[in-house]
Amino acid sequence: MLELKNISVEAEGKPVVMDVTLSVKSSDVAVLMGPNGSGKSTLVNAVMGHPHYRVTKGKVVLDGADITKLPTHEKATNGLFLSLQHTPKVGGINLATFLHKVHVARTGEESDILEYYLELRELAKTLSIPEALLDRPLTAGLSGGERKLSEILQLAVLKPKYAILDEIDSGVDVDAMKTVYAALDTVKKSGTGMLVISHHPSLLEHLRPDQVHVMNAGVLAKSGGPELATDVIKNGFCKVLECPVVETCRARKRS
Ligand SMILES: Nc1ncnc2c1ncn2[C@@H]1O[C@H](COP(=O)(O)OP(=O)(O)O)[C@@H](O)[C@H]1O
Ligand SMILES: [Mg+2]
Repeated sequence: MLELKNISVEAEGKPVVMDVTLSVKSSDVAVLMGPNGSGKSTLVNAVMGHPHYRVTKGKVVLDGADITKLPTHEKATNGLFLSLQHTPKVGGINLATFLHKVHVARTGEESDILEYYLELRELAKTLSIPEALLDRPLTAGLSGGERKLSEILQLAVLKPKYAILDEIDSGVDVDAMKTVYAALDTVKKSGTGMLVISHHPSLLEHLRPDQVHVMNAGVLAKSGGPELATDVIKNGFCKVLECPVVETCRARKRS
């Protein structure tokens, strides 16, 4: 289980996220929604250890171990994966070579890169992800949608215990979106628990979330099942949260 326990986060010394608690089990899909600026990205970046964010309270617990203060690469080694909303541009290494290096680092085996490359191509084909992405730089020069597909392929190869996906479907065209959801379903079936930040109606059809959380003004304002996401998509955040003034959510949380 991935547990976020009473997490509060500061960005640039300013409190942005307050007292968020939620947990994700293996093979579970939890969806996190919320208006722009409500603190979703701040929360997940802080969980992974992004240097611009500081966890001021609470714990991140992965399968019983407190990983809050571990450096990001150790969180990754322990099985946590984050796909950033705004992926930085990384060039100088192509996706296949990057994944091969990760494979060698993880297994300690100097496996043959050509053989590994052929396996990666096969996997990309199975997931309907363009194989040509394997020869492209990790992220530099890729379109927004290509970057997301590249990350989905990384996710499918790395099979983390828990994946946090921040707007994995933004900038992805309708056909590629089906590819993304089918790949996520395969990853979920392999046991990966997922926390997905998305507002996309098709996510609900394809991934059937087990739990849905809505953030507003830095707090977890409402939690429920898939019907909560349907309600938000149909009626909007203000109506669902009965909380047109963002401060109201914070005040309620305090009381
Ligand atoms: N590095 C940062 N420095 C200062 N303020 C930030 C930083 N990152 C996010 N914020 C602020 O925190 C709030 C939440 O942002 P964010 O987590 O990106 O929202 P969301 O992902 O829900 O749209 C916003 O007001 C944003 O401007
Ligand atoms: Mg965001």
